[in-house]
Amino acid sequence: YGTQSINELGHLTIGGVDTVDLAAQYGTPLFVYDIALFRERAQAFQKTFENEQVGYQVAYASKAFSGIAIYQVASQEGLSLDVVSGGELFTAIQSGFPRAKIHFHGNNKSQEEIDMAFDEQIGCIVVDNFYEIELLKKTAEQRKQKMNILLRVTPGIEAHTHDYITTGQEDSKFGFDLGNGQADAAFKETFEHGYLNLIGLHCHIGSQIFDTAAFQMASEKLLLKMAAWRNDFAYTCTVLNLGGGFGIRYTEEDVPLEPAVYVQDMIRTVKAASSQVQFPVPEIWIEPGRSLIGDAGTTLYTIGSMKEVPGTRRYAAVDGGMSDNIRPALYGAKYSSLIANRAEEQASELYTIAGKCCESGDKLIEEAQLPEVRAGDILAVFCTGAYGYSMASNYNRITRPAVVFVESGQHQLVIRRESFEDLVKNEIGYLQEGTRR
Ligand code: LLP
Repeated sequence: YGTQSINELGHLTIGGVDTVDLAAQYGTPLFVYDIALFRERAQAFQKTFENEQVGYQVAYASKAFSGIAIYQVASQEGLSLDVVSGGELFTAIQSGFPRAKIHFHGNNKSQEEIDMAFDEQIGCIVVDNFYEIELLKKTAEQRKQKMNILLRVTPGIEAHTHDYITTGQEDSKFGFDLGNGQADAAFKETFEHGYLNLIGLHCHIGSQIFDTAAFQMASEKLLLKMAAWRNDFAYTCTVLNLGGGFGIRYTEEDVPLEPAVYVQDMIRTVKAASSQVQFPVPEIWIEPGRSLIGDAGTTLYTIGSMKEVPGTRRYAAVDGGMSDNIRPALYGAKYSSLIANRAEEQASELYTIAGKCCESGDKLIEEAQLPEVRAGDILAVFCTGAYGYSMASNYNRITRPAVVFVESGQHQLVIRRESFEDLVKNEIGYLQEGTRR
């Protein structure tokens, strides 16, 4: 992946930095991000739009990995930002992210979150439901303040990793159904509003998708809806936001296309459909999360205890687990790995990589092909950049790992490892008056 290599000591390097040194300096578990790779992905997406000469925004879906440092890099790369909570929005503001390029998502935004969006005058709110329309109208009218909005619709396309199905109506908690009049009703409630400025439609059909057909079908459906509204109400939406979901390669079983290929396909479909119904080609927005940051992240662990179940398997346990990567336990997600301090050795053995949480299901890799491992070895698990740190927890009171960015032979700590003090900093305790700590 990216700038990974092996140096003369036989150690895995990322961004020109020896990962064994990183583990020694910062401790493990450690998230290491290859920032050059993130930049490369960001540029590839944007260049595709430039080449196709179409208006666009590429918003980093920051739920994949959110934090001040990555927001700063995203901003440097000219990306927009998709946030889904007051917390992500606050972090974006703290990072100095250009407010006009922030898009606010969520299926149950609170009044407080909506107020924050208006206070900060962010770029747009992606509206999910009728309750939110009411909140937004009230807020905008009281403040006499304008806000750009997109309507999130559910096009009835369920994309899975390798295929997709179309249904009249998708059973989803998100958005207005396109098939049964909900989207039309939402349009009628918003398009003439004095303060809410309806700029377009949004959909997100799934995640880790390998199939371009699903994106094509979604883009066509949304475009036809915008064309119908133009005919019926003489109102032209100018933005078509097609969400994220582009698949990446976690293991050799995954065969995604280059991210740019999905986008190119999408653009051409939109152009063709536009010309067919004589609709002006809209701006196309996308929201990649995983495909921007996923393979840029590697987690380093230290191997500790081992156990053999005779005739069945060998366990090797690491100093993290489901507390820093819930994806194997939650989704059965698969990962590939390497012993970073002996990266060139023949991977002749099979291990189950277990975490240290008190739960049998806390296994990171079911079948890891590795050399004979020893306590103290550094295990690198690849492609953990998306939904790893951002879904980490303090289960078992395990502290969240540190995060380091590497680029051009340099490394920098961007998120400190949590301390035990951090774990109790919000605790008040429950003791008699006078004895409280
Ligand atoms: N836009 C919207 C509206 C989304 O809901 C999502 C992801 C994205 C963009 C970004 O999707 P991506 O490009 O990253 O696939 N925790 C799960 C993934 C949940 C995705 C939720 N929405 C996982 O670890 O696989």
